Amino acid sequence: MAEKAKAPNGKLGVMIVGLGAVSTTFITGVMMTRKGLAKPVGSMTQYDKIRVGRGADKKYLKYKDIVPLADLNDIEFAAWDVYPANAYESALNAEVLKEKDIEPVKEELIKIKPLKAAFDHNYAKRLTGDNVKDAKTRWDMVEQIREDIRKFKEESGVERVVVLWAASTEVYVPVNEKVHYKLEDLEKAMKENDVENIAPSMCYAYAALKEGAPFIMGAPNTTVDIPAMWELAEQTKMPIAGKDFKTGQTLVKSGFAPIIGTRCLGLNGWFSTNILGNRDGLVLDEPANFRTKEVSKLSTLESILVPEEQPDLYGHGNDEDTQYYHKVRINYYPPRNDNKEGWDNIDIFGWMGYPMQIKINFLCRDSILAAPLCLDLVLLSDLAARAGRYGTQRFLSFFLKSPQHDYTEDEVPVNHLFQQYVMLKNAIREMGGYEADEEID
Ligand SMILES: NC(=O)c1ccc[n+]([C@@H]2O[C@H](COP(=O)([O-])OP(=O)(O)OC[C@H]3O[C@@H](n4cnc5c(N)ncnc54)[C@H](O)[C@@H]3O)[C@@H](O)[C@H]2O)c1
Repeated sequence: MAEKAKAPNGKLGVMIVGLGAVSTTFITGVMMTRKGLAKPVGSMTQYDKIRVGRGADKKYLKYKDIVPLADLNDIEFAAWDVYPANAYESALNAEVLKEKDIEPVKEELIKIKPLKAAFDHNYAKRLTGDNVKDAKTRWDMVEQIREDIRKFKEESGVERVVVLWAASTEVYVPVNEKVHYKLEDLEKAMKENDVENIAPSMCYAYAALKEGAPFIMGAPNTTVDIPAMWELAEQTKMPIAGKDFKTGQTLVKSGFAPIIGTRCLGLNGWFSTNILGNRDGLVLDEPANFRTKEVSKLSTLESILVPEEQPDLYGHGNDEDTQYYHKVRINYYPPRNDNKEGWDNIDIFGWMGYPMQIKINFLCRDSILAAPLCLDLVLLSDLAARAGRYGTQRFLSFFLKSPQHDYTEDEVPVNHLFQQYVMLKNAIREMGGYEADEEID
């Protein structure tokens, strides 16, 4: 039987890379909830109930009644950013939340002043801030981030730290076997300042894991999605997960595609497009940064509706006639700011191949959807560390667009939302001392 999680000891430090729209919405929401002025809607750790026990013994309990989650009152925040604005100024600039939802926690927010960022302009060309570390090499970056984590622990008195990346999407870094497969090669490349293969995000992840902090990647960056980082997470006994918060369109996709798959309908094409006007949208307007996002967004559908398994249903539609056509686009459109609009056009076919269409128009709020994921990922990775779980945490795939999987062994990721939910529930059961099971609730 898996290990039961130990009760938390002292406070939990949450160090966030990037103090932009998502992070300030997350931090402000936690602070407002603590004061009883807001509700943490969308957070599974605060609302969801899971069945434990079977038959006459079954009960439905909130996560906190099954496992020893950290309490919201025990969280202390810190952040790094390229721009020097504090969390209050940054929350106002982001224009996600209304002033009335920020002002009551103004004093607390002002205290969160961003630490200097480990940043390389070549990884996000549209950012021009100068609150940046002066680092000669990538290894030097690592050392400075490690020092930041130690200092934060000392000054705030927190017992444990989780590091969460909610910074901009970096340019696409393809996996390079010579650098990214073995930990010793990765370290060598950092010391030799191989700026092509070592993104700043890798320095944050490396530093976090070395300092005994779980690391969560909220953007689609390659960062921990490399064997060298898996090796480090095993060595330091720290949890890591997949990448890229599963918020709007991909959440819909991973929940909707199973309808097509379960009813054995055919798919000719799925076209997804978005308009978005926040800083994230601006960075993603750069083709090299969008490429990172595109890879992450495309993978979802392909592992749910698999052409090789059902060639009659999914084997048509693209140039080679071997697979449905799948296209994803993001367009920067400032007037909408953080209120993203996503359109999905799905060309399906039914009995005897007759075509039909489904249209989904999701008018969402990006950071409002991402904030509860930040909270859940932070609390659950802290919990996993206390349960002695380390390395890739597959149960966290529920919250991420790209579940981490061992591609060197051809492991297929689980993208199906409801299968991911079963993994999540079973991990919670196990960490609460119950048995995992597959019973239908
Ligand atoms: N909101 C969503 O629905 C959603 C979903 C999935 C992923 N994401 C990802 O979350 C991330 C944050 O989104 P956002 O809307 O808050 O963006 P944002 O642009 O408002 O904030 C990102 C912040 O990160 C800072 N930054 C960039 N590189 C940095 C570095 N190396 N070190 C420290 N700070 C750095 C920027 O200066 C900026 O302030 C993006 O990568 C986005 O793709 C968001």
